[in-house]
Amino acid sequence: MSAPTPLSRVAAFEQLGFGLFLHFGLYSQLGRGEWVQHMEKIPSAEYLKRMDTFTAKDFSGRELARAAKRFGMNYITLTSRHHEGFSLYDTKGLSKLDVTRTPCGRDLIQDYIQGCRAEGIVPMLYHTTLDWNEPRFESDWGGYLQYLRDSVEVLCTQYGPIGGLWFDGNWSKPEADWQEEQLYAVIRKHQPEAIIINNTGTGAMGQTGHPEIDSVTFERGRPRPLDRSGAPKWIAGEMCHTFDFHWGIAGHDYNLLSPAHVIEELCFSRRAGANLLMNIGPTAEGALPTYERAALEKVGDWLELHGGREGVMYGGRPCGIEGEGNDFGLDHEGVRYLFVTDLTPTGNTQVEGVPHRGPGPRVFTGVEGTVKDAKWMDSGEALQFDQSGDRLTLHATGYPYGTNTVVRVAKLG
Ligand code: GLC
Repeated sequence: MSAPTPLSRVAAFEQLGFGLFLHFGLYSQLGRGEWVQHMEKIPSAEYLKRMDTFTAKDFSGRELARAAKRFGMNYITLTSRHHEGFSLYDTKGLSKLDVTRTPCGRDLIQDYIQGCRAEGIVPMLYHTTLDWNEPRFESDWGGYLQYLRDSVEVLCTQYGPIGGLWFDGNWSKPEADWQEEQLYAVIRKHQPEAIIINNTGTGAMGQTGHPEIDSVTFERGRPRPLDRSGAPKWIAGEMCHTFDFHWGIAGHDYNLLSPAHVIEELCFSRRAGANLLMNIGPTAEGALPTYERAALEKVGDWLELHGGREGVMYGGRPCGIEGEGNDFGLDHEGVRYLFVTDLTPTGNTQVEGVPHRGPGPRVFTGVEGTVKDAKWMDSGEALQFDQSGDRLTLHATGYPYGTNTVVRVAKLG
């Protein structure tokens, strides 16, 4: 059975490729992750005192959008409200827990959306569906869902076009009737082109749901290629990943990813045709922490070396080319690219390091037609290869001393 054609909004979302996830809220001031109130059982009254000290003085939508661009990203997904129930926007009186009632005073969602727009970055909004500090969540389900819809309606009507909404929390009450139909109708009414996502959580990665959903999620799990044959609608895929083990900033979490790891995760996401949404928890005041910023700038450099924002890492799609191990191929506008992993530097045994698979022949299948040439994108070096039917053996050379691009990409001509 053939796969359906993606709606234009879904196709456009897939081409965004790489995005920045930002978890920012009252918890950012505590610096122990976004679940801190729940994990430490902090009473609401005490926890919400953090509203009196919420200044967000370093939060700048424009700066965040510039940073995302520098990282080679095309979109940002920012928490308009997380499980703590605090909103980064003016809820127009729907909630007392909003940014207009803090020393910050500014509508941060407005600032964010304007900043993104100015920099050509697509603004998306994460919105919790579960709420620890809204009593109606436990005591008045109908009233709570109405509050949720009204909250979303404000987001959909106050700031012009938004890229999409990313819901999270339905997994907290799997048996409940979340009335998704009505919630999504609010979005479709005001923002027909917005992407709708509803995180299925770590336990149900890649699971499809309501027909309005435009992308499945892979929370901290490597996406698998999606089989859309016979599906009623083409659904995109997105993996979201933390830099350490928390989404909100956690000052004592030293278990941070390297740029190499992020480059690999990005490549493996694109291998499955999925986006990578890489998370950072901004500081208490709303700035990007230095380590994560520096690491993602390295990833941005890698992307620049591989065609930049018009390149294969955004428009490239799976095309049936498979390699051995983690190697794979993508097609971008009729040009094929082979991704070679686990290479090592070559030329001197003193500096070659611990070999992984190293340089040498790499076999790819599914390479149709006659290939005329192959060259590394990072250096332009021409590569030897043998082709027999749809099987191509690429004689991968190692990194020249002084370089290591983690994943090496050969462009076929
Ligand atoms: C989980 C967590 C949440 C985080 C989300 C991001 O569902 O509950 O804190 O925002 O994952 O994917």
